[in-house]
Amino acid sequence: MSASDALVAAAREARERAFAPYSTFKVGAALETADGVIITGCNIENASYGLTICAERVAMFKAIADGHRHFVRIVVVADTSAPTAPCGACRQVLSEFAPDLEITLANLTQVFAQHTIRELLPHAFGPSLLDRR
Ligand code: THU
Repeated sequence: MSASDALVAAAREARERAFAPYSTFKVGAALETADGVIITGCNIENASYGLTICAERVAMFKAIADGHRHFVRIVVVADTSAPTAPCGACRQVLSEFAPDLEITLANLTQVFAQHTIRELLPHAFGPSLLDRR
């Protein structure tokens, strides 16, 4: 199934709340739980640049902190003419909490593409690989 208009709209709205004075590259994300709750995130930058956190991880960490554990899809929005795909760090975090996640990439007016986290992060490191016995 594809992302609903409401989920795409939520990601676009979240993007407007981005704190991105250094890159000026604003990103919004909207994560949908298995029971239909929408949790949003935006990128939050820091003057110590490396402490910046992406929209996708903000959304996932907000959701986890609020007790959600099952996720269906996430929409990622940037104001670009080509899709903005999650960075490697975000792929790893999304994969841990949502190994079957669908990822929709959009801009302010278009929905570009849909992927799965397994496509974007094949052979992922995960909890089962911590078992060395
Ligand atoms: N960024 C995201 O929030 N998500 C992405 O998928 C790509 C990059 C942010 C991080 C930084 O604040 C800015 O975009 C430029 O890299």
